[in-house]
Amino acid sequence: MLTVPPKPDMGDFAFPCFTLAKKWRKAPPLIAQEIAEKASGDLDLLCGAKALGGYVNLSVDRARFADAVLREATSAARRTAACEDGAGQTIAIDYSSPNIAKPFHVGHLRSTIIGGALVRIFEVLGYKVIGINHVGDWGTQFGRQIAGLMRFGKPEDADDLMSLNRLYVKFHEVADSDPELVEEAREWFRRQESGDHVALALWRRIRDTSLDYFKRIYERLGVRFDSYTGESFFNDKMDVVIEEARAKDLATVSDGALIIDLSEEGIDTPALLEKADGTTLYLTRDVAAARYRHDTYGCDRIVYVVASGQSLHFRQLFTVLKMLGHAWSEDCVHVNFGLVQGMSTRKGNVIYLEELLDEARDRALAYMRGQIEKRLELEDEETVAEADYRFDWDLAISFEGDTGPYLMSAHARIAGILRNCGLEPDPDAGVSPLVEPEAHRLYEPSVLANYLLELARGLHASYTVLRVKGEEAGKAQARLLLFTAVKQVLRSGLTILGIRPLERM
Ligand code: ARG
Repeated sequence: MLTVPPKPDMGDFAFPCFTLAKKWRKAPPLIAQEIAEKASGDLDLLCGAKALGGYVNLSVDRARFADAVLREATSAARRTAACEDGAGQTIAIDYSSPNIAKPFHVGHLRSTIIGGALVRIFEVLGYKVIGINHVGDWGTQFGRQIAGLMRFGKPEDADDLMSLNRLYVKFHEVADSDPELVEEAREWFRRQESGDHVALALWRRIRDTSLDYFKRIYERLGVRFDSYTGESFFNDKMDVVIEEARAKDLATVSDGALIIDLSEEGIDTPALLEKADGTTLYLTRDVAAARYRHDTYGCDRIVYVVASGQSLHFRQLFTVLKMLGHAWSEDCVHVNFGLVQGMSTRKGNVIYLEELLDEARDRALAYMRGQIEKRLELEDEETVAEADYRFDWDLAISFEGDTGPYLMSAHARIAGILRNCGLEPDPDAGVSPLVEPEAHRLYEPSVLANYLLELARGLHASYTVLRVKGEEAGKAQARLLLFTAVKQVLRSGLTILGIRPLERM
């Protein structure tokens, strides 16, 4: 419940008394007064508690706080030990999960990066983490892909991803005015679903080509998966789900399709289990997949890192699981994020991820070689408030603002300070010379990414004030300890986020 007071001279933390006031039927300022009075004696790292309005403002004893935080941050134990919060617990993280037979585009990147960071965060927290790529490797897009291949390409095209994408785009251009082609695509997928071996052989070839391509990219991004059990894996695991829904009397037939009415659970759109033509669906596979994960890995929790456009899907999924009697559905979470605008594979209007990574590298290099400085266009609040955002090169690669390169340059800056100050750090250095507000700002804690950015901002604002080189020994050693601690924390944090901490940049 702790917050930070609006002005630094009011204190470092504030405890709001409003919730207690309701419970105790007492005015918040009165409660604040009582707490502040009782908070005397040894307050550990605090040196004062003052009531102000409905808040108790708490001040940190800066000397003791600095000492505790900096020793902890630079201790050897801290560098090696993971924490024990997740001991004995298993968590499955479903992330990246692109629809294959299409190139990986920037939209998939978000799930991959957020999911990859979650994998590393939970690992540091001591959980057993199963990274799952629920590959979209089954579905009508394969019918379209095969139809495009047969009509406009040659068999070898199935082994080259860029050719496959070209044919996929071509299919959609022609299909708009050619109903026969649409019919061919439908027929190919129907053959695939009924086990026709020509269709299945083509499907497998296309799937392998796509997966090889994705795995190369994952390697480049430094993310890992324990399993690639995608949609096709559940082809023979959906009957059980449908039988169960029938046995529990949940399934009803509507217009020839099998559905589960979710209106009693507050969801207006029914869950579609089976289409009229017998082909099964995304949701049914996800129900089968969740059960499979729960049974196979014994996971206590499944996290789905998927764009916010699928919020309804996940609400339906969790509700269906619950109705089927799986209490653990309570611990399934949809971690959603805004969509990247202006990119659709169908129109071929994608920025390929590989090109993105190459371009990012080249732009960063150009920037660092001191070429034309790219000005960062900060979005106005309205734009930021929108869930969707527009992909912007300058923002993506910027060395300023809330970006990876900004964090990286903070780490490299400290490395430079430590390299050039001509001192060896003394682990027993006293911290009492650290009195500047710039110094205090460097040992304030919060949530990871924001925290690191705040730390990086603090660092960038501090090093001209907190000089090490040429300072009197006690002061120099204290600052050196401070910078060593900040470097250690940046290093761990960056590594968790999947960003490489560099010594120079
Ligand atoms: N393949 C889907 C898409 O690109 C995302 C799958 C997410 N995971 C899941 N279990 N549904 O839209």
